[in-house]
Amino acid sequence: MKRTGGGSAERKVNAVAARVLLDVKPTREESELLAGRINTVVSRLKLIVPRDVEVVVTGSSARDTNMRGDSDVDIFMLFKRSVSKAEMESRALSYTKRLVRGHRGESYETKYAEHPYARLLLSNLNLRVDLVPAYKITDARERATSVDRTQLHTLFISSRLSGAQRDEVRVLKAFMRAHNVYGAEARTEGFSGYLAELFIHHFGSFYNVLSTMAEQRMPLVIDPAGHLGPDDAASAPERFGRELVVIDPTDPGRNVAANVSRKSLARLVLSARAFLKSPSKASFYGAGHSEERAAAALSALRKRLGLGIYAIRFVLPDISEEITWQQLARFRARCVGELEKRGFAVTLSLQEIEGREGLIGIILNEIKIGHSVLRGPSSFMGRAADEFARAHSGAAFIFLLEDRLYAVEQSTERDPGEVLRALSNSRRALPTYLKRPTIYHNTIPESRAKLLYRAYCRETSI
Ligand code: UTP
Ligand code: MN
Repeated sequence: MKRTGGGSAERKVNAVAARVLLDVKPTREESELLAGRINTVVSRLKLIVPRDVEVVVTGSSARDTNMRGDSDVDIFMLFKRSVSKAEMESRALSYTKRLVRGHRGESYETKYAEHPYARLLLSNLNLRVDLVPAYKITDARERATSVDRTQLHTLFISSRLSGAQRDEVRVLKAFMRAHNVYGAEARTEGFSGYLAELFIHHFGSFYNVLSTMAEQRMPLVIDPAGHLGPDDAASAPERFGRELVVIDPTDPGRNVAANVSRKSLARLVLSARAFLKSPSKASFYGAGHSEERAAAALSALRKRLGLGIYAIRFVLPDISEEITWQQLARFRARCVGELEKRGFAVTLSLQEIEGREGLIGIILNEIKIGHSVLRGPSSFMGRAADEFARAHSGAAFIFLLEDRLYAVEQSTERDPGEVLRALSNSRRALPTYLKRPTIYHNTIPESRAKLLYRAYCRETSI
């Protein structure tokens, strides 16, 4: 670990971090107000639940690693292990109903992660509370639901981080957010709050985390509590199937970085390198973008590069974004695959969700082509090679690249729009609840262009 005080690079980074902290740390008034409001909710809840159910505040507001302006709070109701899951769920629901009943401006919606919970919207308190039932445990091995670990995370972090390190966590979260890698959900596949906390705990400071990430060759195994022996540590990337493994101090079988995609990891490495090269508030926050005149910006891009843009717009059902995001991602990959099979070169594909609107964007070389090139097996693969040749006996021609067979087929779809329309109407390519999207070509209404442009800026801010 680096000396505190450190070299001039470290001092520069710390100076920027101090300025960023002024933007992202809740002010004293804000923290006091939030604490008061959380207390109100907790007291009300304690009057409702029987004595064998414990009410605890968890998440970043309990660990003092929360961000300014963030009024999302995590409150857990901890049940005894003797209570069945079904009973826990139905009791939690009835406590939730009683909590909001008779209070103006208060409501709840049921959410499903791996485990059902309630999201309370308390407009008078200006608070959003995730109210989560879980089992009270003291060791991860007693765990029966996916959220039981959370209480252990809070105990671990609360007892391990100094006040100064909690601020380092805030700066690290802000950096990750600015570079679009904060959050473990499907949309981002990035770094969770708990992971940011463990990074600071393990490396000591924001500067140390960034300089490690900037120079690190993957794989990287971090084991903050020293659970693994040397052999286990060496095999961890393979066992967990990830380049980055962070062993949960509260549960040796869990990789806290399990949701971090290679892309998010690569993005953090790149932005750490760029920031450390010239630390400033501007390089900390990255490019950013304005959504004004998004359609014009996209159209200028298209013309400058000689590309075409297709936008496919869905009306989404009222189900979790975790699911719809992955459905769109799968459909998008399918579109790109089918287009490329037919010889259209896709330069970039995008997706965005806002509320009930889902959009896929495909930016591609539009030159109309009348053929596709299909890659076959190696000619040394006997039967597979014969079958390929037979299957493509009607091809315009077959040729070899090295030992590999390729068939050039004449194609009927000469227009990417036809390919996308066919896929959009295919029941097999789309789940039934994503029906009949609208497809736009080059001329995209401003409101839709805004979403696409946002996704474009996010993808291309390197
Ligand atoms: P949050 O997503 O609210 O994170 O999950 P956070 O730490 O409070 O960070 P911010 O400031 O709101 O962004 C609350 C807690 O639930 C557990 C973690 O312990 C986390 O701190 N959790 C959450 C998990 O164990 N796994 C998850 O996938 C999500
Ligand atoms: Mn939270």
